[in-house]
Amino acid sequence: MTIAVSPWATILIYFRKKIPSLSIVHSPLSIYIPASKTEILSSYIIFSQPEILPIKGGVDLEQFCCKTKILSGSGAVSALGEMGIRKALIVTDPYFMKNGEAARIARLSGAQTDIFSDITPDPTAQLVAEGTARFKALMPDTVIALGGGSAMDTAKAICYFGGKTARLIAIPTTSGSGSEVTDFAVLTHNGVKHPLIDPSLQPEAAILDSDLLEKLPPSLIADSGFDVLSHALEAYVATGSSAITDALAADAFSSAFANLPASFAGNRTVRLKLHRAATMAGMAFNSAGLGLCHALSHALGGMFHLPHGRLNAMLLPAVMEINAHKAGEKYARLARYAGLGSSADTVAVRNLKNALIRLRRELRLPETLQQAGVDPRLVQRNAGQLVEATLADPCCKTNPLPVEDYMVRQALEAVTGRG
Ligand SMILES: NC(=O)c1ccc[n+]([C@@H]2O[C@H](COP(=O)([O-])OP(=O)(O)OC[C@H]3O[C@@H](n4cnc5c(N)ncnc54)[C@H](O)[C@@H]3O)[C@@H](O)[C@H]2O)c1
Repeated sequence: MTIAVSPWATILIYFRKKIPSLSIVHSPLSIYIPASKTEILSSYIIFSQPEILPIKGGVDLEQFCCKTKILSGSGAVSALGEMGIRKALIVTDPYFMKNGEAARIARLSGAQTDIFSDITPDPTAQLVAEGTARFKALMPDTVIALGGGSAMDTAKAICYFGGKTARLIAIPTTSGSGSEVTDFAVLTHNGVKHPLIDPSLQPEAAILDSDLLEKLPPSLIADSGFDVLSHALEAYVATGSSAITDALAADAFSSAFANLPASFAGNRTVRLKLHRAATMAGMAFNSAGLGLCHALSHALGGMFHLPHGRLNAMLLPAVMEINAHKAGEKYARLARYAGLGSSADTVAVRNLKNALIRLRRELRLPETLQQAGVDPRLVQRNAGQLVEATLADPCCKTNPLPVEDYMVRQALEAVTGRG
């Protein structure tokens, strides 16, 4: 049980006392469904941690779960025709409406379809409400998400608020968010990004078709590529990491690190590798958790609307610096796995951090908010609000060090830039 509207809130708060893993992450969030103006859900949204079953035994017990069936390869979307879809809502953004890809997906599904193509980056609760109204008008058996993290997150929330009656098939078109295999949907409300967390948000199937990546612009490869690196790196050192998530995170990190420059330079043959790395990093962080980089990135993204991966690229080296005295040994292990190692941990950590800074430059990504067009005075003026939003973000919970006010300020200071 993870989300409840108001009447249930008190009951869940009662259960929270009984179940310590159940946590109230934030509240309240209002969802308006314009199609039927009377239907206003003024909700207290309550999220649990991803479902952890109590297991009894020694200290080495670990749990990992991924229910998503993953199909990957060139032309993989043709599998849609074999999936028994009868009625589908396709959730996508205007780009795929315009280039005909959404219509092709509709044809391949062989189903009766409606296409909701209004997705914008940093999807809002309002957008979800509009999509939910379209869902309720069609009552599909399947929702197909076609696009990047924004389209997939909106589709997940639509399925959720539509009553969880339809299955979700995710077709990612960026190699970044990993949303195709996660329990998360990141929604923006009143300038704050809220990660919804619920196991039922995990798609039933993910189709990784490299043909959809042919026209990726270099800036999108760079932004989403750094999202993969930051997912893998944060998951690798997160408090929820395990042998299984470490294997996924280390492989995803080294594959993304090795292949991003070629993909950025226009080499299409490496794109499937990056696509798989993005999904593997998603599987890793979905179980292991993330950290301060993502928490602050959500806060900054909600306020300044910069691409999520670009913010992670700015923050990652600064957050490594902050976490190094706790996570140094694991950073060093990751550096060795990616071929950046040294026998001395401190040198390996420095190599890793410097390699990320060099890659960021090679991919022409900004190093500070100021370089990304945000006035440093605006950042300073809103520092209190940004710190507050960061500390409230659930990603902080799995940072290797407990996140404190001064750490957020230190990371913010490192990326603000100077006038
Ligand atoms: N749910 C999760 O687990 C999770 C994890 C990380 C990030 N996120 C969220 O995902 C969002 C970012 O997703 P994103 O980086 O994939 O970007 P996005 O979905 O916001 O898309 C960015 C732009 O790229 C364009 N685009 C997408 N695919 C394309 C293609 N193949 N060719 C050309 N253009 C294409 C889109 O039209 C859009 O304009 C953020 O809101 C972030 O918070 C979610």
